Amino acid sequence: MTEKNVGSQAGPDAKSADVSEEDPKQDDLAAGTEAVADSDGAETDDNAPVLEVENLEKHFPIRLGVVWKKTVGHVKAVDGVNLSLKKGETLGVVGESGCGKSTLAKTLVGLEQPTGGQIRVKGKGITKLNRSGMKRLRRTAQMVFQDPYTSLNPRMTVGDIIGEPYLIHPDVVPRQRRRQAVQDLLDVVGLNPDHINRYPHQFSGGQRQRIGIARALALRPEILVCDEPVSALDVSIQGQVINLLEELQDEFGLSYIFIAHDLSVVRHIADRVAVMYLGKVVEVGTEDEIYEKPMHPYTQALLSAVPVPDPTKREERDEIVLEGDVPSPANPPSGCRFRTRCFKARQVWAETASDADRKNLPLVDQVPDVCREEEPELQVRDGAQHPNACHFAAPRNVLHV
Ligand SMILES: Nc1ncnc2c1ncn2[C@@H]1O[C@H](COP(=O)(O)OP(=O)(O)OP(=O)(O)O)[C@@H](O)[C@H]1O
Ligand code: SF4
Ligand SMILES: [Mg+2]
Repeated sequence: MTEKNVGSQAGPDAKSADVSEEDPKQDDLAAGTEAVADSDGAETDDNAPVLEVENLEKHFPIRLGVVWKKTVGHVKAVDGVNLSLKKGETLGVVGESGCGKSTLAKTLVGLEQPTGGQIRVKGKGITKLNRSGMKRLRRTAQMVFQDPYTSLNPRMTVGDIIGEPYLIHPDVVPRQRRRQAVQDLLDVVGLNPDHINRYPHQFSGGQRQRIGIARALALRPEILVCDEPVSALDVSIQGQVINLLEELQDEFGLSYIFIAHDLSVVRHIADRVAVMYLGKVVEVGTEDEIYEKPMHPYTQALLSAVPVPDPTKREERDEIVLEGDVPSPANPPSGCRFRTRCFKARQVWAETASDADRKNLPLVDQVPDVCREEEPELQVRDGAQHPNACHFAAPRNVLHV
């Protein structure tokens, strides 16, 4: 491995990781952020959740102008997320495209600087999410990316790719033991340690994802944030990679945040599931609570779209058609963000609406005032043991499982 070879992950994600290590501008940026947590001097608490985030925000500025760029707004990709992750637990994160899952993932592993909120690792706040705080976060939490074809630098050997994190964190493994450490990692993910000098194109998609997992494990993290780790793989290979992740979790006591579009995959692997809509978590609960007793209309709509292979069970399923696209995170709707697409809000409104209102009001305004005016908090409400963010939450078992 040569020290010149940096940037083993070819995508923009990798760039942000490396830049924030090397670029002093990133430090200035971080120093200016309000994302300040508590108690830097405190010891970590092994009984505390391995990761906790409170009101986490990642807002991207929208800049216009050619010479003098002016900020005209912000894309609120992650906008006040509260989550916690216990040791050895898998938290699934689901939601439609554009709802902020990848941005949340990158912020959790320190590849994006939060613009607000707090991150705690084993009860200890990451004080000022600046260079050293982000570096510490990256030691604890590492990311597995979606696309094994583009996320590995084709010009580097797998040995260089997997061992690259040691260049930034040289204290983890002494230089003379790094080759052996990389071979051990290849072995752990089910690859041949003798293939350390091969290049990514010499491996299949599933094997490349194993290389990505080995790299993520190099710093001996406690948390893996897996962003759609099997979506780009053949169905036959998906199961093997999921099994590997489960084995690694048992062996090393890892905690996972597992992001996926496929709710069946999430159900298989997750202990708890968080449902995201437009930068916020709208419901979070155990796998059984979310799949069998979903409270939020958005969760119910997502579940209603899960493919059911058994034709008899498919007929039993409630069909909820989710109309329209996710609104722009630069300009989310007032009150409840889901109100522009919410079937439940329309049902509740219709119960008391006058004939004139039914005729004259546009569909988008056919919602109760409270949905338009008051943002629902994520909290435990009547009818369930788990938190949801809906003024009219009610259980509905759409899958009839
Ligand atoms: N660097 C960036 N600058 C500006 N906007 C961004 C940036 N990264 C993401 N966004 C915006 O933030 C929002 C959330 O994007 P994100 O990629 O996190 O969604 P996602 O849930 O992962 O979607 P998908 O399921 O398609 O992967 C989108 O509107 C996206 O356009
Ligand atoms: S608060 Fe209103 S708009 Fe939001 S999910 Fe509940 S019923 Fe729908
Ligand atoms: Mg994504």
